[in-house]
Amino acid sequence: MSPFYVTTPIYYVNDRPHLGHAYTTIAADVLTRWHRANGREAYFLTGTDEHGQKVLKAAEARGLTPQQHVDELCQPFQKLWGRLNIEHDDFIRTTEPRHTGVVRDALQMLLDRGDIYADDYEGWYSTNVERFWTEKDLVDGKCPESGQPVEWIKEKNYFFKMGKYADKLRQWIEDKPDFLRPASRKNEVLGYLKKEVGDLCISRPKSRMSWGIELPFDKDYVAYVWFDALLNYITALGYTPTGESGANFTKFWPASVHLVGKDILTTHSVYWSTMPFALGLEPAQCLYAHGWWTIEGRKMSKSLGNVVDPNLLIDCYGADPVRYFLLREIAFGGDGDFSHDGFMLRYNADLANALGNLAHRSLSMTGKWLGGVVPKLDAGGEEEAALDALCAETLAGFTAELEALQFSRALEILWTLVGAGNKYIDTLEPWALNREGKMERLAGVMRRCLEICRVASVLLAPFCPDKARELAEKLGDFDMSPSTAGTLDGLTEGAAVAAGEPLFPRMMELPERISQVRDAALAAADAEADAAAAKKSAASKNKNTPKDGKTMSAEPKNTESETEEIPRIKFEDFAKVALRSGKVVSAVQHPNADRLLHLMVDVGEDEPRSIVAGIANRYKPEELVGQTVVVVINLKPAKLRGVRSEGMMLAAGGSNVQGLVTLSEDCAPGTIVR
Ligand code: ME8
Repeated sequence: MSPFYVTTPIYYVNDRPHLGHAYTTIAADVLTRWHRANGREAYFLTGTDEHGQKVLKAAEARGLTPQQHVDELCQPFQKLWGRLNIEHDDFIRTTEPRHTGVVRDALQMLLDRGDIYADDYEGWYSTNVERFWTEKDLVDGKCPESGQPVEWIKEKNYFFKMGKYADKLRQWIEDKPDFLRPASRKNEVLGYLKKEVGDLCISRPKSRMSWGIELPFDKDYVAYVWFDALLNYITALGYTPTGESGANFTKFWPASVHLVGKDILTTHSVYWSTMPFALGLEPAQCLYAHGWWTIEGRKMSKSLGNVVDPNLLIDCYGADPVRYFLLREIAFGGDGDFSHDGFMLRYNADLANALGNLAHRSLSMTGKWLGGVVPKLDAGGEEEAALDALCAETLAGFTAELEALQFSRALEILWTLVGAGNKYIDTLEPWALNREGKMERLAGVMRRCLEICRVASVLLAPFCPDKARELAEKLGDFDMSPSTAGTLDGLTEGAAVAAGEPLFPRMMELPERISQVRDAALAAADAEADAAAAKKSAASKNKNTPKDGKTMSAEPKNTESETEEIPRIKFEDFAKVALRSGKVVSAVQHPNADRLLHLMVDVGEDEPRSIVAGIANRYKPEELVGQTVVVVINLKPAKLRGVRSEGMMLAAGGSNVQGLVTLSEDCAPGTIVR
């Protein structure tokens, strides 16, 4: 088996580590653990990206040297990886001499080979993202990435002859179907490469930005932060341009897979594929660009205050459920949304109810009726043969999906077996076998249930290492290598088993700390959305109100431009919404959320409906009793922070409610509203 080498991006040290960073790093950890468990030599690299303008500015703002600043800020990453059970082999920091020295040697070598040259450069420069843009890249004259103003700069710089390697790269991508994954990314990159690929500016004059690796051939310049950062994947292995590289480089390069988010696909697929060509190396075997998490339906951003701190998730949910959720919830490669309600739903369904329940039932029944030891396996009948076959299929399917980085599919396959285990118990009714004294059969049935738990523990281990070990301990000692997971015969007969505490206790409601953080983020996001809407409407009004008092010849277009962005629906679609008048019978504050009220509303049915509404910002409960409101009565019922809600009341103002839509008092409850 060839050695396995996986990398994550090296994260910008300025940021606090968040859910997105955790996602990529957990994925790399799962792969590493999986390959190791299968006896393959594996190496896992992560680290921090520590040079550049933003770091310099942040350090200055704190009154620290940049080095002091990065020494401090790399620690939250290192601590988080510890708490998330990330077993990386190396953590590279781009300010370490083992990195900076090799970057300088590589730069010198490329200069000597004629692949780096000096030239004048002019263009629109964004200080914020530290790069030049062409005129057509700009959006409203501003940086397309940060939205910040750009300045026109003309200066001498150094360039890497990236264009020279573009054809080779195109051919490489065509010839190696597994190089860029998932397949959609390959098309994206080939699309990009259809344009002429220019040379890459790889220097920054120190007069403008001094926090970087000094060019070995010009002390007035430092290396462009990306050129420096990308080389980490080989500097960490002991690559030496000028002499013999270290043993790790010889063993592990080219990397098996670089995991990155789709945000940095171009820098990796184009810059970081042509750079190795120029150095006389092969690029990595695979670059896998995964998708993007939004948070509760919104982009994760500091300004929205909704950046999810994985430390909070670990505090409240535990590391393993977080690891499981992130890789199970969305297909690796696709985008997804993180919500705490979604987390609780999946935790309860998959971990507490399906696996937790199977383990607890199997272990308690074995404890109660079979002396708490692994019972004897019997020959079994049709049911058991089907389970055996399913188990073999599970291992094969799980392996194939995991090795294709389809984490979610792999877990889904494992959960089919877990589901079959629960169904097996329901069908075979061990309690009846016990009652009827059919102890041999009972032993055979319970043994298979315990065996399914064993297989789950073995295959879950890369995803949830602690919980898998906890489950394994409850089941007695056994071989954890994945090759044992294809049969239902791996436990030691007579070994002691113990149910103990449930593996994944059911979550009845969201932890208080989570609710507070979530509600604050939602409120901040709502306020920002409202402010943006208000700004937009003011802008559209201003457009039509000339300041000098002259009448504009054109008709005001504000209504048109507003409706243009709202998709039109057919009448049939509108008619699907059933609206009725309703009389508020009672209203109280929601027990678990300040923003919510809990109302009982008479909509002309036998019983009033329970409705939870986010209107506490505008109404006191007592103001609402007796009001006649408009209710959507055919929304699917949902539980909102633990209280059932069977409808929705119409209100103005979006999530920052300004007022309820009310009807005259004499409108009888249940009257159709159109
Ligand atoms: O780009 N969803 O560092 P960075 C999914 N230093 N993944 C996300 C995410 C989200 N919302 N947000 C971040 C850099 N990520 C450079 C890399 S490598 C030589 C230099 C993850 O701190 C994802 O892996 O901005 C993304 O590519 C990476 O964090 C960006 O991290």
